Amino acid sequence: MSGAIGIRGYDFIEFYVGSAKMTAFWFAKSLGMDFTGYAGPETGVRDRVSYYMTKHRLKFVITSPISPNCFDVSGFTQKHGDGIKRWAVEVDSVEEAFKYATEHGAVMVRRPEKLENHHGYVEEAAIRLYDDTELIYVNRDNYKHIFRPDFCEPIQKIAVSCEETGLRAVDHIVGNVRENEMNLWADYFNSTMGFETFIDFGPGDIGTKYSALLSKVVRTSDSRIRNPINEPHEGIKKSQIQEFIEEYYGSGVQHVALRTNDIVQTISALRKNGIEFLTIPDTYYDALRDRKDLRIQESIDDLQKHGILCDSESNGYLLQLFTKPIGDRPTFFFEIIQRCGGAEGFGKGNFQALFESIELDQKLRGNLDPDPAELMPPC
Ligand code: FE2
Repeated sequence: MSGAIGIRGYDFIEFYVGSAKMTAFWFAKSLGMDFTGYAGPETGVRDRVSYYMTKHRLKFVITSPISPNCFDVSGFTQKHGDGIKRWAVEVDSVEEAFKYATEHGAVMVRRPEKLENHHGYVEEAAIRLYDDTELIYVNRDNYKHIFRPDFCEPIQKIAVSCEETGLRAVDHIVGNVRENEMNLWADYFNSTMGFETFIDFGPGDIGTKYSALLSKVVRTSDSRIRNPINEPHEGIKKSQIQEFIEEYYGSGVQHVALRTNDIVQTISALRKNGIEFLTIPDTYYDALRDRKDLRIQESIDDLQKHGILCDSESNGYLLQLFTKPIGDRPTFFFEIIQRCGGAEGFGKGNFQALFESIELDQKLRGNLDPDPAELMPPC
Protein backbone atom coordinates (compact mmCIF):
# COMPACT_ATOMS: atom_id res chain seq x y z
CA MET A 1 0.00 0.00 0.00
CA SER A 2 1.27 3.49 -0.77
CA GLY A 3 0.22 7.10 -1.01
CA ALA A 4 -2.60 8.77 0.83
CA ILE A 5 -5.22 6.49 -0.71
CA GLY A 6 -3.82 2.95 -0.33
CA ILE A 7 -2.64 2.32 -3.87
CA ARG A 8 -1.39 -1.22 -4.47
CA GLY A 9 -0.18 -0.78 -8.06
CA TYR A 10 -1.27 -0.44 -11.67
CA ASP A 11 -4.34 -2.40 -12.69
CA PHE A 12 -5.84 -2.27 -16.20
CA ILE A 13 -5.50 0.16 -19.12
CA GLU A 14 -8.45 0.57 -21.49
CA PHE A 15 -8.02 1.66 -25.11
CA TYR A 16 -10.86 3.04 -27.20
CA VAL A 17 -10.28 2.11 -30.84
CA GLY A 18 -12.06 1.92 -34.20
CA SER A 19 -12.02 -1.86 -34.42
CA ALA A 20 -11.42 -3.75 -31.17
CA LYS A 21 -11.11 -7.17 -32.78
CA MET A 22 -8.37 -6.08 -35.17
CA THR A 23 -6.49 -4.05 -32.56
CA ALA A 24 -6.70 -6.96 -30.12
CA PHE A 25 -5.24 -9.21 -32.80
CA TRP A 26 -2.34 -6.74 -33.16
CA PHE A 27 -1.79 -6.79 -29.37
CA ALA A 28 -1.71 -10.58 -29.49
CA LYS A 29 0.46 -10.91 -32.56
CA SER A 30 2.91 -8.08 -31.85
CA LEU A 31 3.09 -7.80 -28.07
CA GLY A 32 2.34 -11.45 -27.29
CA MET A 33 -0.75 -10.70 -25.19
CA ASP A 34 -3.23 -13.48 -24.42
CA PHE A 35 -6.97 -13.27 -25.14
CA THR A 36 -8.33 -13.70 -21.62
CA GLY A 37 -11.84 -12.26 -21.64
CA TYR A 38 -14.58 -10.74 -23.73
CA ALA A 39 -17.61 -8.49 -23.27
CA GLY A 40 -20.25 -7.76 -25.91
CA PRO A 41 -23.82 -8.65 -26.91
CA GLU A 42 -23.25 -12.26 -25.75
CA THR A 43 -22.60 -10.98 -22.22
CA GLY A 44 -25.43 -8.43 -22.23
CA VAL A 45 -23.41 -5.41 -23.43
CA ARG A 46 -25.33 -4.05 -26.42
CA ASP A 47 -23.41 -1.04 -27.69
CA ARG A 48 -19.73 -2.08 -27.59
CA VAL A 49 -17.33 -4.99 -27.58
CA SER A 50 -14.26 -5.32 -25.38
CA TYR A 51 -11.37 -7.77 -25.46
CA TYR A 52 -9.53 -8.33 -22.20
CA MET A 53 -5.87 -9.15 -22.85
CA THR A 54 -3.28 -10.15 -20.27
CA LYS A 55 0.31 -11.28 -19.87
CA HIS A 56 2.06 -11.62 -16.51
CA ARG A 57 0.88 -8.46 -14.67
CA LEU A 58 -0.24 -6.58 -17.79
CA LYS A 59 -3.99 -6.06 -18.23
CA PHE A 60 -5.32 -4.30 -21.33
CA VAL A 61 -8.92 -3.80 -22.38
CA ILE A 62 -9.54 -2.98 -26.06
CA THR A 63 -12.99 -1.51 -26.74
CA SER A 64 -14.85 -0.32 -29.81
CA PRO A 65 -18.47 0.69 -30.54
CA ILE A 66 -20.90 -1.58 -32.35
CA SER A 67 -23.77 0.91 -32.37
CA PRO A 68 -24.03 4.51 -33.59
CA ASN A 69 -25.50 5.27 -30.17
CA CYS A 70 -22.26 4.41 -28.40
CA PHE A 71 -21.22 8.06 -28.25
CA ASP A 72 -18.84 7.51 -25.36
CA VAL A 73 -16.50 5.42 -27.53
CA SER A 74 -17.25 6.73 -31.02
CA GLY A 75 -17.02 10.36 -29.85
CA PHE A 76 -13.63 9.65 -28.30
CA THR A 77 -12.16 7.91 -31.34
CA GLN A 78 -13.63 10.47 -33.74
CA LYS A 79 -11.85 13.24 -31.85
CA HIS A 80 -8.66 11.59 -30.59
CA GLY A 81 -8.20 8.55 -32.83
CA ASP A 82 -7.28 5.29 -31.11
CA GLY A 83 -6.04 6.04 -27.61
CA ILE A 84 -6.21 5.41 -23.89
CA LYS A 85 -9.56 6.30 -22.35
CA ARG A 86 -8.77 5.15 -18.82
CA TRP A 87 -6.09 3.61 -16.67
CA ALA A 88 -6.65 2.04 -13.31
CA VAL A 89 -4.89 1.67 -10.00
CA GLU A 90 -5.77 -1.08 -7.56
CA VAL A 91 -6.59 0.33 -4.14
CA ASP A 92 -7.34 -1.09 -0.68
CA SER A 93 -10.69 0.70 -0.57
CA VAL A 94 -12.39 2.29 -3.56
CA GLU A 95 -14.76 4.17 -1.25
CA GLU A 96 -11.94 5.73 0.76
CA ALA A 97 -9.70 6.47 -2.22
CA PHE A 98 -12.55 8.24 -4.02
CA LYS A 99 -13.55 10.14 -0.88
CA TYR A 100 -10.00 11.35 -0.27
CA ALA A 101 -9.46 12.33 -3.92
CA THR A 102 -12.72 14.24 -4.33
CA GLU A 103 -12.36 15.98 -0.96
CA HIS A 104 -8.97 17.22 -2.18
CA GLY A 105 -10.20 18.56 -5.50
CA ALA A 106 -10.46 15.59 -7.89
CA VAL A 107 -13.20 15.96 -10.49
CA MET A 108 -15.59 13.04 -10.08
CA VAL A 109 -16.64 11.03 -13.12
CA ARG A 110 -18.22 7.94 -11.54
CA ARG A 111 -19.05 7.45 -7.86
CA PRO A 112 -18.03 4.15 -6.21
CA GLU A 113 -20.18 1.27 -7.38
CA LYS A 114 -20.34 -2.49 -6.88
CA LEU A 115 -20.49 -4.52 -10.10
CA GLU A 116 -21.94 -7.87 -9.05
CA ASN A 117 -22.81 -11.34 -10.30
CA HIS A 118 -22.76 -14.85 -8.83
CA HIS A 119 -18.91 -14.81 -8.80
CA GLY A 120 -18.87 -11.88 -6.37
CA TYR A 121 -18.33 -8.18 -6.96
CA VAL A 122 -15.79 -5.68 -8.28
CA GLU A 123 -15.72 -2.15 -6.90
CA GLU A 124 -14.85 0.80 -9.17
CA ALA A 125 -14.92 4.59 -9.17
CA ALA A 126 -13.51 7.15 -11.61
CA ILE A 127 -12.04 10.63 -11.52
CA ARG A 128 -11.16 12.93 -14.38
CA LEU A 129 -7.66 13.12 -15.86
CA TYR A 130 -6.48 15.45 -18.62
CA ASP A 131 -9.11 16.34 -21.28
CA ASP A 132 -11.00 13.08 -21.85
CA THR A 133 -9.10 10.51 -19.80
CA GLU A 134 -10.23 8.82 -16.60
CA LEU A 135 -8.32 7.40 -13.67
CA ILE A 136 -10.08 4.38 -12.16
CA TYR A 137 -9.87 3.11 -8.59
CA VAL A 138 -10.56 -0.61 -8.58
CA ASN A 139 -10.71 -3.38 -6.01
CA ARG A 140 -11.44 -6.97 -7.06
CA ASP A 141 -10.69 -8.75 -3.75
CA ASN A 142 -14.23 -10.13 -3.72
CA TYR A 143 -14.40 -11.27 -7.33
CA LYS A 144 -13.21 -14.71 -8.43
CA HIS A 145 -13.80 -14.68 -12.16
CA ILE A 146 -12.56 -12.87 -15.30
CA PHE A 147 -11.97 -9.14 -14.95
CA ARG A 148 -15.50 -7.84 -14.26
CA PRO A 149 -19.04 -9.22 -14.16
CA ASP A 150 -19.86 -8.16 -17.74
CA PHE A 151 -16.90 -10.22 -19.04
CA CYS A 152 -16.73 -13.92 -19.89
CA GLU A 153 -14.12 -16.23 -21.33
CA PRO A 154 -13.20 -15.46 -24.98
CA ILE A 155 -16.01 -16.67 -27.22
CA GLN A 156 -13.93 -16.93 -30.36
CA LYS A 157 -10.76 -18.93 -29.97
CA ILE A 158 -8.37 -16.73 -31.93
CA ALA A 159 -5.14 -18.65 -32.43
CA VAL A 160 -2.12 -16.37 -32.76
CA SER A 161 1.47 -17.48 -33.14
CA CYS A 162 4.25 -15.06 -32.25
CA GLU A 163 7.60 -14.78 -30.49
CA GLU A 164 7.38 -14.74 -26.68
CA THR A 165 8.14 -11.13 -25.73
CA GLY A 166 8.83 -11.32 -21.98
CA LEU A 167 6.81 -8.17 -21.25
CA ARG A 168 5.86 -8.23 -17.58
CA ALA A 169 4.27 -5.10 -16.12
CA VAL A 170 3.54 -1.40 -16.53
CA ASP A 171 6.50 0.72 -15.44
CA HIS A 172 5.05 4.19 -15.98
CA ILE A 173 2.31 6.04 -17.87
CA VAL A 174 3.04 9.42 -19.43
CA GLY A 175 0.60 12.27 -20.06
CA ASN A 176 1.04 15.11 -22.58
CA VAL A 177 -0.63 18.41 -21.72
CA ARG A 178 -0.72 21.92 -23.15
CA GLU A 179 1.71 24.70 -22.38
CA ASN A 180 1.27 25.90 -18.77
CA GLU A 181 -0.84 22.85 -17.79
CA MET A 182 1.97 20.63 -16.45
CA ASN A 183 2.09 22.17 -12.98
CA LEU A 184 -1.68 22.08 -12.73
CA TRP A 185 -1.80 18.32 -13.39
CA ALA A 186 1.24 17.56 -11.22
CA ASP A 187 -0.48 19.39 -8.35
CA TYR A 188 -3.68 17.45 -9.11
CA PHE A 189 -1.91 14.11 -8.61
CA ASN A 190 -0.08 15.34 -5.53
CA SER A 191 -3.07 16.83 -3.76
CA THR A 192 -5.79 14.34 -4.71
CA MET A 193 -3.79 11.12 -4.35
CA GLY A 194 -0.85 11.98 -2.10
CA PHE A 195 1.76 11.66 -4.88
CA GLU A 196 5.08 13.53 -4.68
CA THR A 197 7.05 15.34 -7.38
CA PHE A 198 10.06 13.15 -8.02
CA ILE A 199 11.80 14.82 -10.98
CA ASP A 200 11.39 18.28 -12.49
CA PHE A 201 12.96 18.84 -15.93
CA GLY A 202 13.01 22.57 -16.56
CA PRO A 203 13.88 24.77 -19.56
CA GLY A 204 17.10 23.58 -21.20
CA ASP A 205 17.01 20.11 -19.59
CA ILE A 206 15.24 18.28 -22.42
CA GLY A 207 15.53 19.20 -26.05
CA THR A 208 17.61 19.66 -29.11
CA LYS A 209 18.51 23.04 -30.56
CA TYR A 210 15.20 22.85 -32.43
CA SER A 211 12.47 21.60 -30.14
CA ALA A 212 11.97 21.20 -26.42
CA LEU A 213 9.67 20.13 -23.64
CA LEU A 214 9.21 20.49 -19.92
CA SER A 215 8.50 17.45 -17.79
CA LYS A 216 7.59 16.65 -14.19
CA VAL A 217 7.42 13.15 -12.76
CA VAL A 218 4.95 12.53 -9.95
CA ARG A 219 4.87 9.21 -8.14
CA THR A 220 3.73 7.34 -5.09
CA SER A 221 6.41 7.29 -2.38
CA ASP A 222 7.20 3.62 -3.11
CA SER A 223 7.42 4.29 -6.91
CA ARG A 224 4.74 1.71 -7.71
CA ILE A 225 3.02 4.40 -9.75
CA ARG A 226 5.20 6.77 -11.77
CA ASN A 227 3.51 9.39 -13.89
CA PRO A 228 5.58 11.79 -15.98
CA ILE A 229 3.69 14.80 -17.37
CA ASN A 230 5.09 16.68 -20.38
CA GLU A 231 4.24 20.05 -21.82
CA PRO A 232 5.65 21.76 -24.96
CA HIS A 233 8.38 24.33 -24.58
CA GLU A 234 9.42 27.06 -26.93
CA GLY A 235 11.99 26.14 -29.58
CA ILE A 236 13.00 27.04 -33.11
CA LYS A 237 10.69 24.29 -34.38
CA LYS A 238 7.58 22.57 -33.13
CA SER A 239 7.89 20.53 -29.95
CA GLN A 240 6.95 16.85 -30.28
CA ILE A 241 4.51 17.48 -27.40
CA GLN A 242 2.80 20.24 -29.36
CA GLU A 243 2.52 17.86 -32.32
CA PHE A 244 0.79 15.34 -30.03
CA ILE A 245 -1.63 17.98 -28.69
CA GLU A 246 -2.56 19.01 -32.22
CA GLU A 247 -2.89 15.49 -33.65
CA TYR A 248 -4.70 14.06 -30.61
CA TYR A 249 -6.90 17.15 -30.39
CA GLY A 250 -6.17 17.71 -26.74
CA SER A 251 -4.24 16.37 -23.77
CA GLY A 252 -4.00 12.67 -22.98
CA VAL A 253 -1.76 9.64 -22.54
CA GLN A 254 1.33 9.77 -24.77
CA HIS A 255 3.01 6.48 -23.91
CA VAL A 256 3.01 3.51 -21.59
CA ALA A 257 6.32 1.97 -20.57
CA LEU A 258 6.29 -1.83 -20.35
CA ARG A 259 8.87 -3.52 -18.16
CA THR A 260 10.94 -6.56 -19.08
CA ASN A 261 13.72 -8.43 -17.30
CA ASP A 262 15.64 -9.06 -20.52
CA ILE A 263 15.31 -6.21 -22.98
CA VAL A 264 17.66 -7.70 -25.59
CA GLN A 265 15.42 -10.77 -25.88
CA THR A 266 12.26 -8.63 -25.72
CA ILE A 267 13.30 -6.18 -28.46
CA SER A 268 14.52 -9.04 -30.65
CA ALA A 269 11.13 -10.79 -30.27
CA LEU A 270 9.10 -7.61 -30.80
CA ARG A 271 11.03 -6.81 -34.00
CA LYS A 272 10.35 -10.35 -35.27
CA ASN A 273 6.68 -9.78 -34.40
CA GLY A 274 6.66 -6.71 -36.66
CA ILE A 275 6.95 -3.83 -34.18
CA GLU A 276 8.74 -0.75 -35.52
CA PHE A 277 11.03 1.24 -33.24
CA LEU A 278 12.68 4.63 -33.44
CA THR A 279 16.02 4.47 -35.22
CA ILE A 280 19.10 5.16 -33.13
CA PRO A 281 22.20 6.37 -35.05
CA ASP A 282 25.50 4.44 -34.82
CA THR A 283 27.19 7.55 -33.40
CA TYR A 284 25.12 7.03 -30.23
CA TYR A 285 26.89 3.71 -29.62
CA ASP A 286 30.31 5.17 -30.43
CA ALA A 287 29.69 7.69 -27.65
CA LEU A 288 28.48 4.89 -25.35
CA ARG A 289 31.73 2.94 -25.91
CA ASP A 290 33.72 6.06 -24.98
CA ARG A 291 32.03 6.37 -21.60
CA LYS A 292 34.52 5.09 -19.03
CA ASP A 293 32.00 5.30 -16.16
CA LEU A 294 29.55 2.89 -17.78
CA ARG A 295 29.18 -0.44 -15.94
CA ILE A 296 26.63 -2.66 -17.64
CA GLN A 297 26.19 -6.40 -18.01
CA GLU A 298 24.98 -6.30 -21.61
CA SER A 299 27.41 -5.93 -24.51
CA ILE A 300 27.22 -2.62 -26.36
CA ASP A 301 27.37 -4.63 -29.60
CA ASP A 302 24.11 -6.32 -28.59
CA LEU A 303 22.53 -2.99 -27.68
CA GLN A 304 23.59 -1.55 -31.05
CA LYS A 305 22.35 -4.60 -32.95
CA HIS A 306 18.88 -4.18 -31.45
CA GLY A 307 18.94 -0.35 -31.29
CA ILE A 308 18.57 -0.22 -27.49
CA LEU A 309 19.32 2.95 -25.50
CA CYS A 310 21.27 2.92 -22.22
CA ASP A 311 21.49 5.47 -19.42
CA SER A 312 23.42 5.10 -16.18
CA GLU A 313 22.57 6.56 -12.79
CA SER A 314 24.26 6.49 -9.41
CA ASN A 315 21.95 3.60 -8.44
CA GLY A 316 22.35 1.49 -11.57
CA TYR A 317 21.31 1.85 -15.18
CA LEU A 318 18.32 1.54 -17.41
CA LEU A 319 17.85 0.20 -20.93
CA GLN A 320 14.98 1.47 -23.03
CA LEU A 321 13.58 1.85 -26.52
CA PHE A 322 10.49 3.47 -27.99
CA THR A 323 8.15 2.12 -30.64
CA LYS A 324 6.89 4.30 -33.44
CA PRO A 325 3.27 5.44 -32.90
CA ILE A 326 1.16 2.28 -33.03
CA GLY A 327 -1.88 3.84 -34.71
CA ASP A 328 -2.53 6.07 -37.69
CA ARG A 329 -1.97 9.37 -35.91
CA PRO A 330 1.46 10.30 -34.49
CA THR A 331 0.16 10.07 -30.95
CA PHE A 332 0.31 6.98 -28.70
CA PHE A 333 3.35 4.69 -28.56
CA PHE A 334 4.91 2.14 -26.22
CA GLU A 335 8.26 2.24 -24.43
CA ILE A 336 10.10 -0.94 -23.50
CA ILE A 337 12.25 -0.59 -20.39
CA GLN A 338 14.55 -2.67 -18.20
CA ARG A 339 15.74 -1.24 -14.87
CA CYS A 340 18.99 -2.63 -13.49
CA GLY A 341 20.49 -2.16 -10.02
CA GLY A 342 17.68 0.03 -8.69
CA ALA A 343 17.72 2.71 -11.41
CA GLU A 344 14.68 4.95 -10.97
CA GLY A 345 15.06 7.56 -13.72
CA PHE A 346 13.66 7.93 -17.21
CA GLY A 347 16.75 7.99 -19.44
CA LYS A 348 17.68 11.67 -19.30
CA GLY A 349 21.01 10.85 -20.97
CA ASN A 350 19.10 9.49 -23.98
CA PHE A 351 16.90 12.49 -24.60
CA GLN A 352 19.21 14.04 -27.18
CA ALA A 353 19.42 10.89 -29.37
CA LEU A 354 15.74 10.28 -28.88
CA PHE A 355 14.65 13.76 -29.83
CA GLU A 356 16.75 13.75 -32.96
CA SER A 357 15.15 10.46 -33.99
CA ILE A 358 11.64 11.77 -33.27
CA GLU A 359 12.36 14.97 -35.18
CA LEU A 360 13.29 12.93 -38.26
CA ASP A 361 9.82 11.32 -38.19
CA GLN A 362 8.14 14.66 -37.44
CA LYS A 363 9.85 16.12 -40.48
CA LEU A 364 8.61 13.24 -42.66
CA ARG A 365 5.06 13.97 -41.50
CA GLY A 366 5.50 17.66 -42.31
CA ASN A 367 4.89 18.50 -38.64
CA LEU A 368 8.26 20.05 -37.91
CA ASP A 369 8.16 23.67 -39.02
CA PRO A 370 10.46 24.05 -42.02
CA ASP A 371 13.70 25.98 -41.93
CA PRO A 372 13.34 29.36 -43.69
CA ALA A 373 16.21 28.17 -45.95
CA GLU A 374 14.09 25.21 -47.06
CA LEU A 375 11.38 27.60 -48.24
CA MET A 376 13.77 29.25 -50.72
CA PRO A 377 13.02 28.22 -54.30
CA PRO A 378 15.69 25.99 -55.86
CA CYS A 379 18.07 27.87 -58.09
FE1 FE2 B 1 8.83 6.86 -20.61
